[in-house]
Amino acid sequence: MKGPVLDAVRRGLAPGVVALFDAVLAEAERLDVALYLVGGPVRDLLLGRGLRDLDLIVDPREDMPLAAEGLARAAAPEGAQVVSHDRFGTVRIEAADGALDVATVRRESYARPGALPTVELGTLDDDLRRRDFTVNALAVPISTAARRGRPALIDPEGGRADVGSGVLRIFHAASFHDDPTRALRAARLGERLGFRLSRGSRTALRDAVGAGAFSAVSGDRWRREFEKLFDDARNGLDPAAALRRLAEWHVLGALEPGLGLPSAAIPALRRLGRSLAVPPFPSARLRPWAAGLAVWLAEVDATSRRRTLRRLAVRGELAQRIVEFPRLRDRCLRTLATARGRGAVDALLGGLDDERLLGIYVYAPPAGRRRLLRWALEDRTRRPPVSGADLIAAGLTGPVVGAALARIRLAWLDGAVHTRDEAIALAREIGARLGRRNAKRPRTAAKRVAAEPATVKLKKASLPAPEPSSILPPASPPTRALHPERQ
Ligand code: CTP
Repeated sequence: MKGPVLDAVRRGLAPGVVALFDAVLAEAERLDVALYLVGGPVRDLLLGRGLRDLDLIVDPREDMPLAAEGLARAAAPEGAQVVSHDRFGTVRIEAADGALDVATVRRESYARPGALPTVELGTLDDDLRRRDFTVNALAVPISTAARRGRPALIDPEGGRADVGSGVLRIFHAASFHDDPTRALRAARLGERLGFRLSRGSRTALRDAVGAGAFSAVSGDRWRREFEKLFDDARNGLDPAAALRRLAEWHVLGALEPGLGLPSAAIPALRRLGRSLAVPPFPSARLRPWAAGLAVWLAEVDATSRRRTLRRLAVRGELAQRIVEFPRLRDRCLRTLATARGRGAVDALLGGLDDERLLGIYVYAPPAGRRRLLRWALEDRTRRPPVSGADLIAAGLTGPVVGAALARIRLAWLDGAVHTRDEAIALAREIGARLGRRNAKRPRTAAKRVAAEPATVKLKKASLPAPEPSSILPPASPPTRALHPERQ
């Protein structure tokens, strides 16, 4: 099938997803089943924006109630998985080079405010009217069966006009009562699209806040919405602006009394947004939401910070790190401003996870950012000319090995140790000093010695230390013990 909508869909998506889409559509045509493009992608097509994903729904024939699953199974290429999400035929095709969701038209109702909805099979109209905002209650018939007797755009709530005037509008008064997480969707979507919340919707939101609807939603659900908010920063959303909307709507205070958006956090959150969109240094394990909460809550008082984390069901070590982040940040900023040499910066930042590192980066003044950046881009992954195995082979044992390695790394990054021989000489000196000093409490002594200056004759810091591969002597014994930790 051809047409401007399908052309736009095919232009906007990854080839693997387009292939799945074409296969599902071909199957819908073969079975004469009504298939629609619905929700966010329709809105984005009307706005001329690139598509982020595809939402497809099937209005099944009476004799074929599980058509969505049937389409997905027939369309899935060899090796792909078809994962069924619920008994109403919401399925996901997961292929090597893309995934696609296909749902069945449904009706939703809420047993009580803030509860997860009860889902039943419904009609296309039910499916559109269960949604949050008019601009999402739009469908484009895709297959021949769907187009039969239908307009090119199905728009029961005036979504097209609201897309044109840049408005997010709920279309039943209890929408925010039913699902208060829609407030976070409104902030996120509004900021992403540059849309404002209609006056009536703001009143409805105020009513829901006043009625205490927000306390009925679980911490896990709220946290997931914040995850999406900070994830969206990767696509250019400014988290500070989205949080500011929530503060203005009194949503933050409804989540946790006293919680707000302190003005001191705003520049850092903005920079965080930019850093998530264009990472200044590689952060393979970064969870944007964890960095986001650390940066935002760093300027909130300690009690609110703890309570907010509890409210968002953030627990364990991660919660503790976010609680303690302000103190760490202040210490790091001070040290970044005063540290002498690259080794000291490495000792400061070396043990930090990606989230705290980025959090410190966004709060640092320009000079501190430059130092942090140089460490993250150049020094972080460099390895000194010896490993723990080398030191053991040289006769060191116990906690002295760790202490000596730390001291060697520091001296090497400062350009005071260049070669393997120098590093081993320094390690031996540390070993000897420790042996003399505190045979009974080696751990404490080892720590102290790691931080002390060495008396072994170190070369003056000059050029940065060469890369490890060029430092290693070609055939230094014992080769067996040399390499395991090096790469
Ligand atoms: N929806 C809703 N209430 C929610 C979550 C979702 O009404 N709490 C509806 C929305 O109308 C949306 C649809 O379910 O169109 C699918 O949700 P999702 O994929 O999260 O929305 P998109 O608009 O596609 O969001 P995005 O552009 O971020 O993918």
